[in-house]
Amino acid sequence: MLLKRDIDVLTGDSYRSFPVSFLTEMNPFSLSVSRQWHPASWRDFPISQLPVYPDERILQDYERQLRSSPPLLLATEIRQFRHQMVQVAEGKAFLLQGGDCAESFDGCQATTIRDHCLTMAQMAGLIHESTGLPVVKLGRIAGQFAKPRSQQEETRDGVTLPSYRGDIINGQDFSLQDRIPDPQRMLRAYYHAAVTVNLLRAMNTSVFPDFTEPNFSPDRRGDSDNYYHLMREQLHGSYHRHVRDDYAGRPLFISHEALLLHYEEAMTRKDAVDGTWYNCSAHMLWLGERTGDPDGAHVEYLRGIGNPVGIKCGPNMTTERLLALLTIIDPDKQLGKIVLIARMGNDKIDEKLPPLLHAARMSGHPVIWAIDPMHGNTRNTFSGHKTRSFTSIVEEAQRFIRLLREEGMHPGCLHLEMTGGDVTECTGGLQHIDDRDLSYRYLSSCDPRLNRAQSLELAFLLGKALR
Ligand code: PEP
Ligand code: CO
Repeated sequence: MLLKRDIDVLTGDSYRSFPVSFLTEMNPFSLSVSRQWHPASWRDFPISQLPVYPDERILQDYERQLRSSPPLLLATEIRQFRHQMVQVAEGKAFLLQGGDCAESFDGCQATTIRDHCLTMAQMAGLIHESTGLPVVKLGRIAGQFAKPRSQQEETRDGVTLPSYRGDIINGQDFSLQDRIPDPQRMLRAYYHAAVTVNLLRAMNTSVFPDFTEPNFSPDRRGDSDNYYHLMREQLHGSYHRHVRDDYAGRPLFISHEALLLHYEEAMTRKDAVDGTWYNCSAHMLWLGERTGDPDGAHVEYLRGIGNPVGIKCGPNMTTERLLALLTIIDPDKQLGKIVLIARMGNDKIDEKLPPLLHAARMSGHPVIWAIDPMHGNTRNTFSGHKTRSFTSIVEEAQRFIRLLREEGMHPGCLHLEMTGGDVTECTGGLQHIDDRDLSYRYLSSCDPRLNRAQSLELAFLLGKALR
């Protein structure tokens, strides 16, 4: 049913026609946004990872088109997600966030989206069966098109071109034509996000007929058969106790990194009823490791929106910077607002995480703690593939759970780069993928993802660890 507030946001009022003082107190989550914030205020701050578009006028034209396009989500849907995040913050639910490192336009296909959804649903089922906690599912999907890069340029055979920054900015081919940032790509990203959201909504109300099947070919070695049966049993249990009756109530929410602020600004709409600005292209957005300067443009943008916000915390995060970020982005210390995503690396988490846990707790911000066991565990193989070993990923996640438990805190979220497809990008797991297997089906356009079998196995193991 459409409520009045849904219809209001559909009018798509441009922020340029609203004074910021229009903010009202009706929203229970209303922010104490200072007067100067508006969706474009980030433009007055130093910014990193910004693409240089060759023609400002063409950029503005595409921004205008995006601003007048319908929102992908309604404010009510973001608030619904926010209410589920409150449950996670209170330790009454678990958040599972996962998807591609970088979505690509070519990869936006019905089977890929379906496999992603099914795998996430099964992972949620496995975790729920072990822990008894409801699992909130959040895809890195329908907008995860922009990538931060450590190197601004790439050189091959003496030719230097701008680095690939994700399909929303430029193309992957090593040619000048592809690598020059093209603002029209923002509109294409919007289109791909819209068709993805459309399919997700349809799938949210149907049960997968193959939900109870792990459905990957386990390697015949060792105890894999045994595992496979246990997983299948658990999926059956989850289906009969939970999924069959409650499927529609547990949609797959969407998220992406708030990196390309031209796009994020254009998708930011004011909810005419509660007066809050929402980024209506994702339920949740996150601040990346490379754009986390408290004085920078990305933080300025994120502090003004009503969506829940993730903050990546790498090994260089200091307690001072973390506290500054929390003060700026969550001044009102709201429940369900902030997810701190630790991505330290298996060899560093024991040393680096406890001071941050302690500082966040002392600050009084009721944050959700998440583990991203992917980004701190990347290595390069002899053949030049970027990979991650399943063992390091499991171990870092287990260490995270242990550290949180020692502090009496809720390990609330698992953040993964994963796919429902049968790729060979990470080593290890029940299929015993090794370095030599990687070139077989290495399809990621950026970082290596867990494949379907590895994702299910991880959910199965972490369910046990969380119990
Ligand atoms: C990512 O999540 O894809 C990413 C780039 O992570 P980080 O900012 O933590 O490096
Ligand atoms: Co990545």
